[in-house]
Amino acid sequence: MEFEAFRESERMGWNARARGYDTATAGATLQSIPMLLHMARLRSGARLLDMGCGPGYLAGAAAALGGVCTGIDFAEDMVTEAQARFPGVTFHGGDAEALSFDDASFDIVASNIVLFHLANPEKAMAEAARVLRPGGVFVFSQWLGPDQSDLYRELQSVLREHADVTLGDAAPDAYALSEPATARAALEAAGFEAVESRVVHNILGAADEDFFDFFMRFGVRVPLIVQAQAPSVQTAIREAMNERMEAYRTARGIEVPMPSILYSGQKP
Ligand SMILES: C[S@@+](CC[C@H](N)C(=O)[O-])C[C@H]1O[C@@H](n2cnc3c(N)ncnc32)[C@H](O)[C@@H]1O
Repeated sequence: MEFEAFRESERMGWNARARGYDTATAGATLQSIPMLLHMARLRSGARLLDMGCGPGYLAGAAAALGGVCTGIDFAEDMVTEAQARFPGVTFHGGDAEALSFDDASFDIVASNIVLFHLANPEKAMAEAARVLRPGGVFVFSQWLGPDQSDLYRELQSVLREHADVTLGDAAPDAYALSEPATARAALEAAGFEAVESRVVHNILGAADEDFFDFFMRFGVRVPLIVQAQAPSVQTAIREAMNERMEAYRTARGIEVPMPSILYSGQKP
């Protein structure tokens, strides 16, 4: 399988971050959930699949609004966290690129900041289309790229200056789906119509701690590149990243914009 090493590093990375997810990654990813559920046109009784559920927040929120929810994630420790956090929702281990559900078994498939992490996002879109009933809605969110995100602009600039990015596992372009025309074409190729997009202005908040340490707990894609560098290079990246982030210091710590773009498409 293409990008197999990247996929396995992602799985290990998310397993390692499952316990601390609520104090790191969730602070930013949760901000996209209300708009995703709005775009999904969630109604009480709707059968919703949370694809790449992490600790289950999207499925949990949808269940509180009357959805009949299922979550899947390929990191087993995420599934354990999700099940403990939201006992009324069903969570399973599973792969977004090869769903284990029957055709036409959901009204909504929702995926919050997951396609950014996949070896083959087009496969996940095709799987979402397969498991949706006709008229069902697929929604997903994606971080905007360095051209529109303060966080990723600064990180990319630091990595360009200090790192050899070819040392990380080969991986697909993280920001391809940040481009609305590319995402629309991919959704339409997967069989969706009536594609819409909205931007959410997420803020990444890092209170009281060294920003570099926080960011290494927050994400997986950039940390995989950083960890592949020599120790002296990692130190240079730490210093440069922390220095850049000082421009975003508020009374609450570092608060840096990292907007997301949300897409919806309907199965004909
Ligand atoms: C940034 S987290 C998002 C978690 C959650 N959706 C949220 O709203 O915070 C990305 C999640 O995608 C999961 N993931 C990545 N690749 C996957 C795959 N191929 N199949 C299922 N889950 C996957 C990871 O394990 C991780 O839990």
